[in-house]
Amino acid sequence: VTLEVNVSDPGRQMPATLFGLFFEEINHAGSGGLWAELVQNRGFEAGGQDTPSIFEPWYKIGSDAQVIIGTERSSPFNRNPVALKITVLCDNGDENNNKCPKGGVGTANPGFWGMNIIAGSKYQVEFWLRSSNTFNLSVAFISANGAVLTLEIVSVDGKSNRDWSKQSIVLTAKSTDHYARLSLTTGTKGEYWIDQVSAMPTDTFKGHGFRKELATMIADLKPGFLRFPGGCYVEGVRLANAFRWRDSVGDYENRPGHYGDVWNYWSDDGFGYFEGLQLAEDIGAAPIWVFNNGISHWESVPTAEIGPWVQDVLEGIEFARGPVNSTWGAVRAQMGHPDPFPLLYVAVGNEDCEKPYYRGNYMEFYKAIKLMYPDIELISNCDGSRGPLDHPADLYDYHIYTTANNLFSMRHSFDRTSRVGPKAFVSEYAVVGADSGTGSLLASLAEGAFLIGLELNSDIVEMASYAPLFVNANDRRWNPDAIVFNSWQQYGTPSYWVQHFFKNSNGADLLPSTVKADSSTSLAMLVTSAVRAHNTSSGSDYLIVKAVNYGSNPLNLNLEVSGVSANRFNATESYIMLLTSAGLMDENSFTNPAKVTPQVTKATNAGPSMEVALPAYSILALQLGLN
Ligand code: AHR
Repeated sequence: VTLEVNVSDPGRQMPATLFGLFFEEINHAGSGGLWAELVQNRGFEAGGQDTPSIFEPWYKIGSDAQVIIGTERSSPFNRNPVALKITVLCDNGDENNNKCPKGGVGTANPGFWGMNIIAGSKYQVEFWLRSSNTFNLSVAFISANGAVLTLEIVSVDGKSNRDWSKQSIVLTAKSTDHYARLSLTTGTKGEYWIDQVSAMPTDTFKGHGFRKELATMIADLKPGFLRFPGGCYVEGVRLANAFRWRDSVGDYENRPGHYGDVWNYWSDDGFGYFEGLQLAEDIGAAPIWVFNNGISHWESVPTAEIGPWVQDVLEGIEFARGPVNSTWGAVRAQMGHPDPFPLLYVAVGNEDCEKPYYRGNYMEFYKAIKLMYPDIELISNCDGSRGPLDHPADLYDYHIYTTANNLFSMRHSFDRTSRVGPKAFVSEYAVVGADSGTGSLLASLAEGAFLIGLELNSDIVEMASYAPLFVNANDRRWNPDAIVFNSWQQYGTPSYWVQHFFKNSNGADLLPSTVKADSSTSLAMLVTSAVRAHNTSSGSDYLIVKAVNYGSNPLNLNLEVSGVSANRFNATESYIMLLTSAGLMDENSFTNPAKVTPQVTKATNAGPSMEVALPAYSILALQLGLN
């Protein structure tokens, strides 16, 4: 097979936002995932604001005769009224009757399927406390088998201060356990109220509370944008359970948290609207805020009543972009970000096009946002790939979850789409079902071919992102996902690694290329593209040729590059990246995280005429440095 590319052709510049990320609070992606908070249900509010509330996974340390625990509406935080009351019946000084056990009694939190505590690392532990006792509280991380990993004593003089006070300590772990718990115990008889308990590693991504290894994995993809915080999560089954931005900003102690009724778990909303904007900034991506437009899975606010929802969103935009002397810009500044976030895209709902009142509601948001923020681009939920939309939009949302063969053939989906009108935002794509398992090579190859199709159509496709991004393996709500993790490990599925083949495409020039073969070789299973990317750090260009061989026959790819002299090829800056595996359904796992990962070798034969092997069922990227 011969692939001809002319590097001197100006080509067509692809959007700087072409490939990005979609972050949704699904599968504990944020709560118990990217958000590094170790405590689950930090405010004891998981059952709502009435008592008794659900305080699990907190549990009692001590017997019924030694200690009683329960929830009470006695918190100092008006938006989080529930606190935990601990009544200690035993006492260390009571030699004869009810002496507390060694280590005391109280409560413990196992985090999200165990806390990852690493020897030498520091953890910031904070909580609010009220008591009229003078006592010692032991704050400790305890391993799964009961060993003390680190312990600090907090001495409290409740006699002089009976009011709530914030305790804040840093614990340095002396040993490691990946499934530890946080315990708060005492051996002094009396009543104690505790609320808003937090434990965070002090070392987080850019110091902003994101779990470092997970944030690094997504930053490595050089994403052009970050769509957040959902998905269905934004809609809710019921509106009462939808994500609402204003409940997720400000001090953590006063974020009410909410039960996400689509993916069925409670979130303390530590990862909220602010954190989504901050994450986008930290990974160099343009933020795309998906907001609720008054529509959930089961309900739709009539357009005549949508005014307060529109106002809510305008204030949300003010939170992101307003000056520090605006109402909501001031809240953002107080949270540590006086500069506005560059919010230039918003999506009006998620998958709501066919639901009652969508168009009417959409138009109210559209008019109000364009009036106040004419530079913001609006994304409609209605598919504009089949025909013109009946309403104005800058982009339209396009979601596709399908089989491998279907996605492979869908690389042509946008070939014949109208070149006028709003551009496509393929904000969710993935191979699902039997072809994917929990993340197969087969799925990733079809996705690679589909993405090459999007590059070729990037005059009308502005953005694309895989979905979902993350899964905590302890609570899979959706299969497959790009990044799998537990409390201490993480790995990319083949679908994650295929995205690495596209990370230099944003803003690169798509070059015309021609594939030829003799009559005995079928090209039906071969998909290719060629782009010229500029490396800002070295100042030189790269020619990047990608090829997916979706067939069972190995191919030899002869690359013929014109428009550039042979001496411009820089072999030391030239690489071959190849993803393949022995079995089509091969997956990565915690025990074998690198089974299906790209092999990167130096392209020592880099030149205007070179041959590369393209194994059956593989994706290849040839990155050739040009001086
Ligand atoms: O990515 C998982 C879900 O798929 C998203 O929440 C939703 O938009 C789609 O249906």
